[in-house]
Amino acid sequence: MKAVIPAAGLGTRFLPATKAQPKEMLPVFNKPTIQYVVEEAVSSGIDDILIITGKGKRSIEDHFDRSFELEYSLQNSGKTDYLKEIESISEMADIYYVRQKKQRGLGDAISCAQKHIDGEPFAVLLGDTIAQSEIPCIKQLMNVHEKYKSTVIAIEEVPDERIERYGIIKGNKINDNLYKIDDLVEKPKLEDSPSNLGIIGRYILAPEIFDYINEVSPGVGGEIQLTDALRLLNESYGCIFKGKLYDIGNTVDWLKSSIEIALEHEEVREELKDYLLKILQ
Ligand code: UTP
Repeated sequence: MKAVIPAAGLGTRFLPATKAQPKEMLPVFNKPTIQYVVEEAVSSGIDDILIITGKGKRSIEDHFDRSFELEYSLQNSGKTDYLKEIESISEMADIYYVRQKKQRGLGDAISCAQKHIDGEPFAVLLGDTIAQSEIPCIKQLMNVHEKYKSTVIAIEEVPDERIERYGIIKGNKINDNLYKIDDLVEKPKLEDSPSNLGIIGRYILAPEIFDYINEVSPGVGGEIQLTDALRLLNESYGCIFKGKLYDIGNTVDWLKSSIEIALEHEEVREELKDYLLKILQ
Protein backbone atom coordinates (compact mmCIF):
# COMPACT_ATOMS: atom_id res chain seq x y z
CA MET A 1 0.00 0.00 0.00
CA LYS A 2 1.16 3.56 -0.78
CA ALA A 3 0.86 6.48 1.62
CA VAL A 4 0.06 10.13 1.02
CA ILE A 5 1.13 12.82 3.47
CA PRO A 6 -0.57 16.18 2.88
CA ALA A 7 1.82 18.90 3.99
CA ALA A 8 0.95 21.83 1.75
CA GLY A 9 -1.19 23.86 4.16
CA LEU A 10 -0.41 27.48 4.99
CA GLY A 11 -0.15 26.93 8.75
CA THR A 12 -2.00 30.17 9.43
CA ARG A 13 -2.70 29.30 13.06
CA PHE A 14 1.04 29.13 13.66
CA LEU A 15 2.08 32.45 12.10
CA PRO A 16 4.58 34.06 12.16
CA ALA A 17 6.59 30.85 12.81
CA THR A 18 5.26 29.40 9.55
CA LYS A 19 5.89 32.44 7.39
CA ALA A 20 9.05 31.03 5.83
CA GLN A 21 9.14 27.46 7.13
CA PRO A 22 6.63 24.62 6.89
CA LYS A 23 4.57 23.82 9.97
CA GLU A 24 5.37 20.15 9.31
CA MET A 25 9.08 20.89 9.85
CA LEU A 26 8.61 22.35 13.34
CA PRO A 27 10.62 20.18 15.73
CA VAL A 28 9.05 18.12 18.47
CA PHE A 29 11.93 17.32 20.78
CA ASN A 30 14.72 16.43 18.32
CA LYS A 31 12.87 15.65 15.10
CA PRO A 32 10.67 17.58 12.70
CA THR A 33 7.02 16.57 13.00
CA ILE A 34 6.84 15.10 9.51
CA GLN A 35 9.67 12.67 10.31
CA TYR A 36 7.49 11.06 13.00
CA VAL A 37 4.74 10.75 10.39
CA VAL A 38 7.03 9.15 7.80
CA GLU A 39 8.38 6.78 10.48
CA GLU A 40 4.82 5.73 11.35
CA ALA A 41 4.16 4.81 7.70
CA VAL A 42 7.48 2.99 7.38
CA SER A 43 6.98 0.99 10.58
CA SER A 44 3.57 -0.04 9.19
CA GLY A 45 5.33 -1.63 6.23
CA ILE A 46 4.76 1.22 3.74
CA ASP A 47 7.79 2.17 1.62
CA ASP A 48 6.20 4.33 -1.09
CA ILE A 49 5.27 7.73 0.26
CA LEU A 50 3.96 10.74 -1.63
CA ILE A 51 4.24 14.05 0.18
CA ILE A 52 1.94 16.84 -0.99
CA THR A 53 3.99 20.01 -0.77
CA GLY A 54 3.54 23.57 -1.91
CA LYS A 55 5.22 26.94 -2.00
CA GLY A 56 7.83 27.41 0.73
CA LYS A 57 8.08 23.69 1.57
CA ARG A 58 11.51 22.94 0.06
CA SER A 59 13.02 22.12 3.45
CA ILE A 60 10.80 19.00 3.64
CA GLU A 61 12.46 17.64 0.50
CA ASP A 62 15.91 18.60 1.77
CA HIS A 63 15.26 16.85 5.06
CA PHE A 64 14.59 13.48 3.42
CA ASP A 65 17.38 13.86 0.86
CA ARG A 66 21.09 13.00 1.22
CA SER A 67 23.27 15.79 2.56
CA PHE A 68 26.76 15.01 1.30
CA GLU A 69 28.50 17.99 2.92
CA LEU A 70 27.01 17.20 6.32
CA GLU A 71 27.76 13.47 6.02
CA TYR A 72 31.36 14.24 4.96
CA SER A 73 31.84 16.62 7.85
CA LEU A 74 30.37 14.18 10.42
CA GLN A 75 32.55 11.39 9.01
CA ASN A 76 35.70 13.54 9.28
CA SER A 77 34.97 14.62 12.82
CA GLY A 78 34.25 11.03 13.92
CA LYS A 79 30.64 11.77 14.90
CA THR A 80 29.49 8.38 13.71
CA ASP A 81 26.26 8.19 15.73
CA TYR A 82 24.98 11.38 14.14
CA LEU A 83 26.22 10.19 10.77
CA LYS A 84 24.23 6.95 11.00
CA GLU A 85 21.11 8.82 12.04
CA ILE A 86 21.42 11.37 9.23
CA GLU A 87 22.02 8.64 6.64
CA SER A 88 19.06 6.60 7.85
CA ILE A 89 16.65 9.52 7.32
CA SER A 90 17.36 9.56 3.59
CA GLU A 91 17.10 5.79 3.32
CA MET A 92 13.78 5.29 5.14
CA ALA A 93 11.50 4.98 2.13
CA ASP A 94 10.97 5.99 -1.48
CA ILE A 95 9.61 9.47 -1.05
CA TYR A 96 7.94 11.33 -3.92
CA TYR A 97 6.64 14.88 -4.04
CA VAL A 98 3.86 16.68 -5.82
CA ARG A 99 2.94 20.31 -5.36
CA GLN A 100 -0.54 21.52 -4.57
CA LYS A 101 -0.69 24.69 -6.66
CA LYS A 102 -3.22 26.54 -4.50
CA GLN A 103 -4.08 25.75 -0.88
CA ARG A 104 -7.74 24.86 -1.44
CA GLY A 105 -8.12 22.43 1.44
CA LEU A 106 -7.34 18.86 2.45
CA GLY A 107 -9.65 17.26 -0.14
CA ASP A 108 -7.93 19.23 -2.89
CA ALA A 109 -4.47 18.29 -1.51
CA ILE A 110 -5.38 14.60 -1.64
CA SER A 111 -6.70 14.89 -5.19
CA CYS A 112 -3.13 15.86 -6.22
CA ALA A 113 -2.16 12.23 -5.44
CA GLN A 114 -4.52 10.63 -7.97
CA LYS A 115 -1.93 9.85 -10.68
CA HIS A 116 0.56 8.43 -8.20
CA ILE A 117 -2.01 6.21 -6.50
CA ASP A 118 -3.18 4.52 -9.68
CA GLY A 119 -6.52 3.04 -8.64
CA GLU A 120 -5.54 1.21 -5.42
CA PRO A 121 -6.64 1.83 -1.81
CA PHE A 122 -4.11 4.08 -0.10
CA ALA A 123 -3.16 5.44 3.31
CA VAL A 124 -3.34 9.12 4.27
CA LEU A 125 -1.44 10.54 7.25
CA LEU A 126 -1.71 14.25 8.03
CA GLY A 127 1.71 15.84 8.16
CA ASP A 128 0.96 17.90 11.26
CA THR A 129 -0.25 15.15 13.59
CA ILE A 130 1.91 12.66 15.49
CA ALA A 131 0.32 9.36 16.55
CA GLN A 132 2.24 7.20 19.01
CA SER A 133 1.19 3.66 19.84
CA GLU A 134 2.48 0.13 20.10
CA ILE A 135 0.86 -0.81 16.79
CA PRO A 136 1.29 2.26 14.55
CA CYS A 137 -1.98 4.09 13.97
CA ILE A 138 -2.01 3.56 10.21
CA LYS A 139 -1.24 -0.15 10.72
CA GLN A 140 -4.28 -0.40 13.03
CA LEU A 141 -6.38 0.92 10.12
CA MET A 142 -4.67 -1.38 7.61
CA ASN A 143 -5.64 -4.35 9.78
CA VAL A 144 -9.32 -3.30 9.70
CA HIS A 145 -9.11 -2.60 5.98
CA GLU A 146 -7.79 -6.09 5.35
CA LYS A 147 -11.00 -7.48 6.84
CA TYR A 148 -13.61 -5.04 5.47
CA LYS A 149 -11.91 -4.01 2.18
CA SER A 150 -13.38 -0.55 2.59
CA THR A 151 -12.48 2.98 3.66
CA VAL A 152 -11.32 3.13 7.29
CA ILE A 153 -10.95 6.35 9.27
CA ALA A 154 -9.16 6.72 12.60
CA ILE A 155 -11.34 8.36 15.25
CA GLU A 156 -11.15 9.16 18.93
CA GLU A 157 -13.44 10.59 21.58
CA VAL A 158 -13.15 14.35 21.58
CA PRO A 159 -13.94 16.55 24.61
CA ASP A 160 -16.94 18.88 24.11
CA GLU A 161 -14.86 22.05 23.92
CA ARG A 162 -12.86 20.72 20.96
CA ILE A 163 -15.73 19.27 18.87
CA GLU A 164 -15.90 22.39 16.68
CA ARG A 165 -12.34 21.79 15.46
CA TYR A 166 -12.91 18.26 14.15
CA GLY A 167 -14.70 16.28 11.49
CA ILE A 168 -17.22 14.21 13.46
CA ILE A 169 -18.81 10.87 12.52
CA LYS A 170 -22.26 9.47 13.08
CA GLY A 171 -22.05 5.70 13.23
CA ASN A 172 -23.31 2.35 14.44
CA LYS A 173 -21.12 0.48 16.85
CA ILE A 174 -19.89 -2.87 15.49
CA ASN A 175 -17.63 -3.59 18.46
CA ASP A 176 -15.71 -1.64 21.12
CA ASN A 177 -13.27 -0.25 18.54
CA LEU A 178 -15.23 -0.13 15.33
CA TYR A 179 -18.16 1.88 13.94
CA LYS A 180 -19.93 1.62 10.61
CA ILE A 181 -20.20 5.23 9.48
CA ASP A 182 -23.62 6.64 8.50
CA ASP A 183 -22.64 10.24 8.11
CA LEU A 184 -19.87 12.76 8.73
CA VAL A 185 -19.86 16.46 9.41
CA GLU A 186 -16.95 18.90 9.31
CA LYS A 187 -16.45 21.16 12.34
CA PRO A 188 -20.03 21.07 13.72
CA LYS A 189 -21.28 23.23 16.57
CA LEU A 190 -21.42 21.18 19.78
CA GLU A 191 -25.23 21.24 19.83
CA ASP A 192 -25.41 19.96 16.21
CA SER A 193 -22.72 17.32 16.57
CA PRO A 194 -23.94 13.77 15.83
CA SER A 195 -21.44 12.24 18.32
CA ASN A 196 -18.18 12.95 20.11
CA LEU A 197 -16.15 10.76 17.74
CA GLY A 198 -13.65 12.97 15.91
CA ILE A 199 -11.57 12.22 12.83
CA ILE A 200 -7.90 12.42 13.81
CA GLY A 201 -5.98 12.54 10.53
CA ARG A 202 -5.26 8.94 9.57
CA TYR A 203 -7.24 7.20 6.81
CA ILE A 204 -7.24 4.23 4.45
CA LEU A 205 -9.14 5.52 1.45
CA ALA A 206 -10.81 3.68 -1.40
CA PRO A 207 -9.63 5.13 -4.75
CA GLU A 208 -13.22 6.21 -5.60
CA ILE A 209 -12.60 9.09 -3.21
CA PHE A 210 -10.91 10.98 -6.07
CA ASP A 211 -14.21 11.07 -8.06
CA TYR A 212 -16.09 12.30 -5.01
CA ILE A 213 -13.52 15.00 -4.24
CA ASN A 214 -14.10 16.31 -7.77
CA GLU A 215 -17.85 16.38 -7.11
CA VAL A 216 -17.91 18.36 -3.86
CA SER A 217 -18.09 22.12 -3.76
CA PRO A 218 -16.08 24.19 -1.30
CA GLY A 219 -17.38 23.68 2.24
CA VAL A 220 -16.38 25.02 5.68
CA GLY A 221 -13.82 27.83 5.29
CA GLY A 222 -14.26 27.85 1.49
CA GLU A 223 -12.03 24.76 1.27
CA ILE A 224 -12.56 21.47 -0.57
CA GLN A 225 -13.17 19.32 2.49
CA LEU A 226 -12.19 15.65 2.52
CA THR A 227 -15.04 15.03 4.98
CA ASP A 228 -17.60 16.18 2.38
CA ALA A 229 -16.19 13.69 -0.15
CA LEU A 230 -16.15 10.89 2.46
CA ARG A 231 -19.93 11.39 2.94
CA LEU A 232 -20.45 10.28 -0.67
CA LEU A 233 -18.72 6.90 -0.25
CA ASN A 234 -21.04 3.88 -0.12
CA GLU A 235 -19.33 2.34 2.85
CA SER A 236 -16.79 3.43 5.45
CA TYR A 237 -15.72 2.49 8.95
CA GLY A 238 -14.44 4.45 11.92
CA CYS A 239 -11.75 2.75 13.98
CA ILE A 240 -10.99 4.01 17.49
CA PHE A 241 -7.26 4.75 17.65
CA LYS A 242 -5.50 2.96 20.47
CA GLY A 243 -2.64 5.26 21.40
CA LYS A 244 -1.73 8.88 22.01
CA LEU A 245 -2.28 11.65 19.52
CA TYR A 246 -0.27 14.87 19.31
CA ASP A 247 -1.56 17.74 17.21
CA ILE A 248 1.00 20.40 16.36
CA GLY A 249 -1.31 22.62 14.31
CA ASN A 250 -1.34 25.47 16.83
CA THR A 251 1.13 26.86 19.34
CA VAL A 252 -0.39 25.52 22.59
CA ASP A 253 -0.92 21.99 21.28
CA TRP A 254 2.59 22.00 19.80
CA LEU A 255 4.06 23.08 23.14
CA LYS A 256 2.14 20.41 25.05
CA SER A 257 3.20 17.76 22.50
CA SER A 258 6.83 18.86 22.71
CA ILE A 259 6.87 18.63 26.51
CA GLU A 260 5.10 15.25 26.64
CA ILE A 261 7.33 13.70 23.99
CA ALA A 262 10.48 15.15 25.57
CA LEU A 263 9.43 13.63 28.90
CA GLU A 264 9.53 10.20 27.22
CA HIS A 265 13.26 10.67 26.62
CA GLU A 266 15.26 9.35 29.54
CA GLU A 267 18.27 11.59 28.83
CA VAL A 268 16.26 14.77 29.55
CA ARG A 269 13.31 13.54 31.63
CA GLU A 270 14.59 14.31 35.13
CA GLU A 271 16.07 17.67 34.22
CA LEU A 272 12.90 18.74 32.45
CA LYS A 273 10.64 17.50 35.24
CA ASP A 274 12.67 19.40 37.88
CA TYR A 275 12.57 22.51 35.73
CA LEU A 276 8.79 22.34 35.16
CA LEU A 277 8.13 21.78 38.87
CA LYS A 278 10.42 24.70 39.73
CA ILE A 279 8.84 27.24 37.38
CA LEU A 280 5.32 26.20 38.39
CA GLN A 281 5.93 26.72 42.11
P1 UTP B 1 -4.79 22.01 8.48
O1 UTP B 1 -6.05 22.65 8.09
O2 UTP B 1 -4.56 21.67 9.91
O3 UTP B 1 -3.51 22.84 7.99
O4 UTP B 1 -4.59 20.75 7.56
P2 UTP B 1 -3.35 24.32 7.54
O5 UTP B 1 -4.34 24.69 6.49
O6 UTP B 1 -1.91 24.47 7.19
O7 UTP B 1 -3.62 25.08 8.91
P3 UTP B 1 -4.19 26.53 9.21
O8 UTP B 1 -5.66 26.33 9.40
O9 UTP B 1 -3.83 27.42 8.05
O10 UTP B 1 -3.49 26.93 10.47
C1 UTP B 1 -4.12 19.47 7.98
C2 UTP B 1 -3.03 18.97 7.06
O11 UTP B 1 -3.42 19.07 5.70
C3 UTP B 1 -2.48 19.81 4.95
C4 UTP B 1 -1.69 20.62 5.97
O12 UTP B 1 -0.37 20.87 5.52
C5 UTP B 1 -1.73 19.75 7.22
O13 UTP B 1 -0.64 18.87 7.28
N1 UTP B 1 -3.17 20.68 3.96
C6 UTP B 1 -4.17 21.51 4.35
C7 UTP B 1 -2.75 20.66 2.65
O14 UTP B 1 -1.83 19.90 2.27
N2 UTP B 1 -3.37 21.49 1.75
C8 UTP B 1 -4.37 22.33 2.10
O15 UTP B 1 -4.90 23.07 1.21
C9 UTP B 1 -4.78 22.34 3.44
